Amino acid sequence: MPASLQPKPAEPFHTRQPEPADPGFGIYVHWPFCLAKCPYCDFNSHVRREALDQERFARAYLAELDHMAELTGARKVDSVFFGGGTPSLMAPKTVAAILERIARNWSLGEGAEITIEANPTSVEAAKFAGYRAAGVNRLSLGVQALDDKALKGLGRLHSAAEALEALAIAKAHFARISFDLIYARPDQSGEAWAAELGQALAHEPTHMSLYQLTIEPGTPFAALHAAGKLAVPESDHAAALYEITQALTDAAGLPAYEVSNHAAPGEECRHNLTYWRYGDYAGVGPGAHGRLTIGAERIATSTMRAPEAWAARVADWGHGIETSERLSNADQRAEFLLMGLRLREGVDLARFEALGGRPAPGGLRMLKQQQLVEQRDGRLAVTDSGRLVLNAVIAELAPELASCSA
Ligand SMILES: C[S@@+](CC[C@H](N)C(=O)[O-])C[C@H]1O[C@@H](n2cnc3c(N)ncnc32)[C@H](O)[C@@H]1O
Ligand code: SF4
Repeated sequence: MPASLQPKPAEPFHTRQPEPADPGFGIYVHWPFCLAKCPYCDFNSHVRREALDQERFARAYLAELDHMAELTGARKVDSVFFGGGTPSLMAPKTVAAILERIARNWSLGEGAEITIEANPTSVEAAKFAGYRAAGVNRLSLGVQALDDKALKGLGRLHSAAEALEALAIAKAHFARISFDLIYARPDQSGEAWAAELGQALAHEPTHMSLYQLTIEPGTPFAALHAAGKLAVPESDHAAALYEITQALTDAAGLPAYEVSNHAAPGEECRHNLTYWRYGDYAGVGPGAHGRLTIGAERIATSTMRAPEAWAARVADWGHGIETSERLSNADQRAEFLLMGLRLREGVDLARFEALGGRPAPGGLRMLKQQQLVEQRDGRLAVTDSGRLVLNAVIAELAPELASCSA
């Protein structure tokens, strides 16, 4: 085993940046269009043959933002995230108009984190300059693999060289960059993944999202998998790939701060931290989800998924919200634990108790003995080895959530 892959002594659970009292308020903007549908993806993304009426969609986003501001009242926005789909298909002027409307409706501080997701295939230097001029200050690039055969297998429209070119363009425009890779791909050996991840780390990213390939129901990959034509790693091999991931990223100064997310200290994605710390966020655009505290209630919102139907509904009603559900304390306890235990910093037990929650004493004792969780300074966190079996850990801590997925 190369020295860089030698297991390191278990790192004590710690809070690199103590969780702030206020988990922040974010705005998520979902752009639901892609140039092609990747066969593994079950996100709300659609391919359109005809040119899109971007002006019509821009009007709908602005109207829905106005509606969300009426719901939330005045608040400070800590982060905006343009996700997809492929938001790098948006015209920079659409992004600019959305950011202007957010600044007008709420207060958007100087320090707010504003991220856009980009696909290497939809990258042009001019567009990146336009996003930067619009106020975007962080870019997340969907590299997915640095191996052309694997990229083809994933149905991606770009080569590894194009992805690296896009990364270089991104670096010229943005101080904060992240990129995504998918591992535990069919037939991927530990050596191949270590080499690929090493190559990625050589580009000195300060943030990476490293996802194990998941077979999502209803996707072409799920059909191939069911037919025995696509094999994903068995759990032992997947666990070994996960260990390699932790060892290499730790050695590169990019430890996991969440199950699949790695960052240099201070470079964590603040927008996603707000989700995991169970803060509030408004979700606009087709199929966007939100969590809003309105008065004494916590509301879960979701908008219509079909893009054109959403735009038509917004034109008629001023918003495309399809469901707006008041969350009970039990709902909030479940979400709080499922989100917060993904984080290395874990959860604040006082907040869990305020929602009427208490970890099951028997389960907690057993998990501590097995060093799958740690409790300190009023916080409960899952250890590195515990995160490998997160669903089982949550089931022990909160048996009533056993049917939920982490
Ligand atoms: C919905 S995509 C949006 C980003 C952009 N459209 C792209 O594909 O690069 C967000 C990330 O989710 C990850 N992802 C999507 N489906 C996945 C799956 N089935 N298994 C693992 N990762 C997945 C990919 O790494 C992707 O970069
Ligand atoms: S480009 Fe991204 S969002 Fe679109 S289908 Fe592929 S993985 Fe999904």
